[in-house]
Amino acid sequence: MKSSSNISDVIFVLFILPLGVWCDGEAESVVAPMGIAEKEALYSIIQGFLGNGWNGSDLYPDPCGWTPIQGISCDLFDGLWYVTALNIGPIHDNSLACAPNVEFRPHLFHLKHLKSLSFFSCFVSTLQHPIAIPTETWGLLAGSLESLEFRSNPGLIGQIPTTFGNLKKLQSLVLLGNGLMGELPMNIGNLINLRQLVLSGNYFTGRIPDSLGGLNELLIFDLSRNSISGPLPLTFGGLTSLLKLDLSKNQLEGKIPTQIANLKNLTLLDLSNNKFSGGLPKSLQEMSSLEELVLSSNPMGGDLMSLEWHYLQGLIILDLSNMSLTGGIPESIEELKRIRFLGLNDNKFTGNLSPKLAALPSVSALYLNGNNLTGELKFSELFYGKMGRRFGAWNNPNLCYPNGLVSRSHVPFGVKPCLQEVTLHGSDHDEKSKLGNGNLDQISQFTTSLGFSSHGDDGLWCTFLAEILMIVLVLNFYL
Ligand SMILES: *[C@@H]1O[C@H](CO)[C@@H](O)[C@H](O)[C@H]1NC(C)=O
Ligand SMILES: *[C@@H]1O[C@H](CO)[C@@H](O)[C@H](O)[C@H]1NC(C)=O
Ligand SMILES: *[C@@H]1O[C@H](CO)[C@@H](O)[C@H](O)[C@H]1NC(C)=O
Ligand SMILES: *[C@@H]1O[C@H](CO)[C@@H](O)[C@H](O)[C@H]1NC(C)=O
Repeated sequence: MKSSSNISDVIFVLFILPLGVWCDGEAESVVAPMGIAEKEALYSIIQGFLGNGWNGSDLYPDPCGWTPIQGISCDLFDGLWYVTALNIGPIHDNSLACAPNVEFRPHLFHLKHLKSLSFFSCFVSTLQHPIAIPTETWGLLAGSLESLEFRSNPGLIGQIPTTFGNLKKLQSLVLLGNGLMGELPMNIGNLINLRQLVLSGNYFTGRIPDSLGGLNELLIFDLSRNSISGPLPLTFGGLTSLLKLDLSKNQLEGKIPTQIANLKNLTLLDLSNNKFSGGLPKSLQEMSSLEELVLSSNPMGGDLMSLEWHYLQGLIILDLSNMSLTGGIPESIEELKRIRFLGLNDNKFTGNLSPKLAALPSVSALYLNGNNLTGELKFSELFYGKMGRRFGAWNNPNLCYPNGLVSRSHVPFGVKPCLQEVTLHGSDHDEKSKLGNGNLDQISQFTTSLGFSSHGDDGLWCTFLAEILMIVLVLNFYL
């Protein structure tokens, strides 16, 4: 039985407890007791975080019984209450909010049945009172702790203690949005029961330890928004259970190892905003569980032609923007039936665009802007109307849409109309090939007179908004 405030507890407090008091004259004889050491430890720990003004024995004489503390859960072991979960920070209105001068009291490590410990927005003072995670005593919690979380604590600094490596029962380690720094300790690889490892939004540096590749129960690994450098370890092929891998916004470099294709259950792979190079490995096409593949903003190079994209039938989001990709856009991309977001913008793609791209049944954002695509855009007026600025084709100087085929209100945003054919006999082709040669002055004069400007800046803004939206979507997966 848990003491957190569920309905049976409320009933207990409202009805059974007063009866007990009435009959026996003393609450202690009805409610299970809590050992004095456990109770004193709890009061001291909380006082360390909330300040000396907080007086537990005054406010919560029976913290696991009839005066429960928000954020604390207890369980019975051999007829005594023990604390099993401790959540510090303003999660609910009346939960435990930290004082400016917080401290970890050693009693924390004496809660021998503690399964879950979390700190949210508790260590917030970066200048006056930054604080490090205690290093010595985590081993005392090795027998019980399954979940450890520090979230949104900018005043929490220093390194991850190597003693975290002793927490053998840990299934979830979340260190998200703190001020932590230094290298990741190698012995995090000892935590073989980990299902979730979230280290994003800190200042971690150094390489990803090879040892992490041994975490074969791991489902979620998020190391995004740090300053991790070096290559992706080849051992990552061992993370066979992994569902989500987010290493975006770091300084990772080198090739994406072909072993990544061992992650057969992966649904999210985000390596964006790093320094990966050397082209896309062909083995990517074996990752048929992928729903979101985000590799944008890497100096990747190479082209898309070597991959058979139709194998990735599950893809919903494919962002390959700003990757120095060359060559044409392969037809196999047109077979991604579930794709909703396709970002191929800001590369060096050349050639014509197949109108079949517009026939992707689920597409709601398609960005091809900032390339060197050529020729006529032959998508339908309906498509332009439906997509608006979520169809990006601007900044392709040699691309135009056939004038006259579309009404003025449904034209591709930021794209110039092809030179209008002056009604001479059949010289259509000659006129259009002129455009292919980049007769730009003439075109822009023509567009200006029609009331179109070159929308370069708006276009970028639009992409930017779309990316923020994406980030919010991706974050939503985790929060
Ligand atoms: C809490 O209050 C009680 C009496 O109101 C007092 O005896 C006790 O010393 C106080 N404890 C702390 C830690 O301030
Ligand atoms: C991958 O997912 C399938 C189906 O959900 C599951 O049966 C299988 O055990 C998973 N593979 C690994 C290595 O976890
Ligand atoms: C494009 O990618 C490079 C790294 O390859 C990065 O420095 C640059 O900021 C990115 N540009 C945009 C607009 O994201
Ligand atoms: C764009 O492609 C055309 C040929 O289609 C080529 O002449 C031109 O140099 C390319 N422009 C850039 C910036 O690469």
